[in-house]
Amino acid sequence: MSTVPASVGVSAGSAAFTPPAIDGNLTGRHIVSVEQFARPDLDDLIRVAADLRTRVRTGDQSVLKLCRRRIMATLFFEASTRTDMSFQAAMLRLGGEVVATAGGVQFSSVYKGENLADSVRAAGSYADVVVLRHPEVRSSYEAAYQLDQLTTRLGTRSVVVSGGDGVGEHPTQALLDLFTIIDFKGKADGLAVTLVGDLAHGRTVHTLAKLLALYGAEGLRLQLVSPESLRAPRGILDFVRERGVEVHETDSLDEVIGSSDVIYWTRVQQERFASEADYEAIAGQFIMTPDVLAKASDEVILMHPLPRKHEMGTEAGHAILDADPRSVYFHQMQNGMYVRMALLAGVLGAHE
Ligand code: NCD
Repeated sequence: MSTVPASVGVSAGSAAFTPPAIDGNLTGRHIVSVEQFARPDLDDLIRVAADLRTRVRTGDQSVLKLCRRRIMATLFFEASTRTDMSFQAAMLRLGGEVVATAGGVQFSSVYKGENLADSVRAAGSYADVVVLRHPEVRSSYEAAYQLDQLTTRLGTRSVVVSGGDGVGEHPTQALLDLFTIIDFKGKADGLAVTLVGDLAHGRTVHTLAKLLALYGAEGLRLQLVSPESLRAPRGILDFVRERGVEVHETDSLDEVIGSSDVIYWTRVQQERFASEADYEAIAGQFIMTPDVLAKASDEVILMHPLPRKHEMGTEAGHAILDADPRSVYFHQMQNGMYVRMALLAGVLGAHE
């Protein structure tokens, strides 16, 4: 995908925007940060996602009525396979419709120099919900702020759901990750969750760490494994520690792999490095292979937000890892659709 023009930006107006708490009701809410969710909201979301999964798998046609005649617009200014397609599939499985600029955002007016605010206002004036992925941190806050202004002008309501804000948050990914952990482990209490890879730039790990802290599981431990130069941002560490989560940072996977209940492997975020040389210097570190997984317990689950590159070894290694019952990244990938169904039905006020 070509680079987003520099004119796209976050306005001063949205600087003070604070994402509203869900507070037991998703209807009409923008979804831009996991900080909006409290434990009861998360338990509700997990329950609804699991229920929708059962209904979809059993061919329950009533699901198709939930978002009938509702429209979702997608605005993806960064590459995506799973997030984009799972949102689209989620809306279609709820009986809704999906619009996007024909040919992708590279054919939208952004490439004539239009700013983010106007692109979002266009999407929001046609659709009930706008899914936005954008390389700038807080871009979804800008979208939420602009859509609130638009509601005042037009009297119609459209909400944004973030599909990832640069190195900031990727809230729906963290929600599907939490759902997957609870799905396989039954609870989050007492788990040792090991996050591995580019913890400096990886928005999935930033967001999951925050969400696990917000979930308030008893005795949950985070083991953060990365090269020294790619450690998690201080703000994330402070956030989770302030909420009572024990955090252990290390550059030695061997130190923590055996004691892990969940291993969350991640890609080195090449597109976020200032220079190719910086990327090359650490790209080869922390490669998951069958030999590495052999050091983990029989009960561990291996997660990965995908896409995977060399950090998951060779194609031959992929085949062995994929066949290992501890690898749950394809379940995780499909769970993304069910969690997004639960979110879309929720924000659009579709119940039952
Ligand atoms: C991730 C993302 O885009 O942040 N992918 C995803 O949404 N499943 C992870 C990544 O790109 O490494």
